Amino acid sequence: MRRIGFHDRDKEMKEIRDILDAEPSLITFVYGPINSGKTALITHLIEELPEDYVVFYVNLRGKFISNYDDFVRALFKLDREKKEYKEILRTISEVSLKSLKFTGIPVTEGVLDLFFKEKTYDDVFEFLEDYFTEIAKNKVPVLIVDELQKIGDVRINTHLIYELFNLFIRLTKELHLCHVFAVTSDSLFIEQVYSEAMLEGRCRYLMVDDFDYETAAAFLDGHDFTDDERTIAWGYCGGKPVCLLELMNTKDDRKGKAEEMFKIRKGQIEEVIYSLEANDKKMFDAVLGILSEFIVSEKTTYKYLNDEIKFLVRKNIIFADSVNKELVPQSQLTLSAMREVMRDV
Ligand SMILES: Nc1ncnc2c1ncn2[C@@H]1O[C@H](COP(=O)(O)OP(=O)(O)OP(=O)(O)O)[C@@H](O)[C@H]1O
Ligand SMILES: [Mg+2]
Repeated sequence: MRRIGFHDRDKEMKEIRDILDAEPSLITFVYGPINSGKTALITHLIEELPEDYVVFYVNLRGKFISNYDDFVRALFKLDREKKEYKEILRTISEVSLKSLKFTGIPVTEGVLDLFFKEKTYDDVFEFLEDYFTEIAKNKVPVLIVDELQKIGDVRINTHLIYELFNLFIRLTKELHLCHVFAVTSDSLFIEQVYSEAMLEGRCRYLMVDDFDYETAAAFLDGHDFTDDERTIAWGYCGGKPVCLLELMNTKDDRKGKAEEMFKIRKGQIEEVIYSLEANDKKMFDAVLGILSEFIVSEKTTYKYLNDEIKFLVRKNIIFADSVNKELVPQSQLTLSAMREVMRDV
C-alpha cells in the first residue's frame, strides 16, 4: 500500500515556527475538532526542527493516569544506558550534530526510584525546572504534551493540572527557558483552561481545524480523483484529513465508500438521539433545540456551555470553540448526518 505523506499546512506551520523563533513566553494550547490533524502537525514539525532544538514529546493517549505513580510513569522514560542523570543532561545539551527528539523525558533509574519513594510533586517539578535549565544552556528545549486533558481531573492532594500549569508558567513566562505546547481536542477541557484565572495572559491558543477547501483539494491532488469524485469528497468529508484519506485509499467505488461512511455516521447519531429520547425526554428536547440550529447554518454561537451542549460535546457530535465562542459539528459528515436525522426525528 502506498503511504500518504504529511500534507503541508502552511498557515499553522508558520504560526508555530514564529512561536519557536521567539523567546518562550507563553504556553501554547493547540486545540481543534477531533481528527483534524493536530498530532500529525506536531509530529511533522518535530521532524523538521533544526539542530538547536531538543524536543520532549509526551503523549498521554492510552495512558491511564489516576495517581502520582501513573503520572511519573507517563512523563518520564527510563534511560537504561546512562548511569548518572547529569550525564544524560550533558549528552542532551552538548550534542550538536542533530536536533534531538525524545518520547518522554529521559531519566535514570535512580531518579525514577527517588520520585516513586518521595511521592511529592515538588520533587518532580523542581527536577524538571533544573533539567530544562541545564539543557537551555546550549539548546532550546521544547516540551509537548499531547492529550493533556487526560490529567484534567486527576487529584492527589491538589489538582495535578494546576501544578503542571504552574511549572509551564515558570518555564515560559518567568524563566523563558522552554517552549511548552499542550495539545487537546477536548472542548470541555479547553473551556476550563480558557476560563482559568491562573492562565490569564499566560497562554495563547492555536486552532488546528479541518483543512479548508484549497488545502483539501491540494491534498487530493496526485491521487487520481475525477472532478465528480472531488465534489463527492468535499461534500461528504469536508476537510477532515482522516475521511479524505479513506477515499484516497479507495480506488474503485469512491462514491459508494462516501455513502457508506455517511450511513455509519448517521446510524451513530441516531443511536445517541433515540436512546436519549427513551431515557431523558427533557434533555432530548433541549438537545434537539441545539441541533435544529444546524439545519440551516454550519455554526452557531453560545454564551456558556449548558448541559445540552456538554452532552453533544461529550458524544463527539459538536465541537465547542471556547476562544471564538462557537459551536460547530465535529465534521462535515456529522453535519450532514445530523441534518438527516433531524428530518426524521
Ligand atoms: N497534514 C496531514 N497530512 C496527511 N495526513 C494527515 C494530515 N493531518 C492529519 N492527517 C491524518 O489524519 C489522521 C488524523 O490525524 P491526527 O491523529 O493528527 O488528528 P488529531 O487532531 O490529533 O486527532 P485527535 O483529535 O484524535 O487527537 C491521521 O491518520 C493522520 O495521518
Ligand atoms: Mg491527536
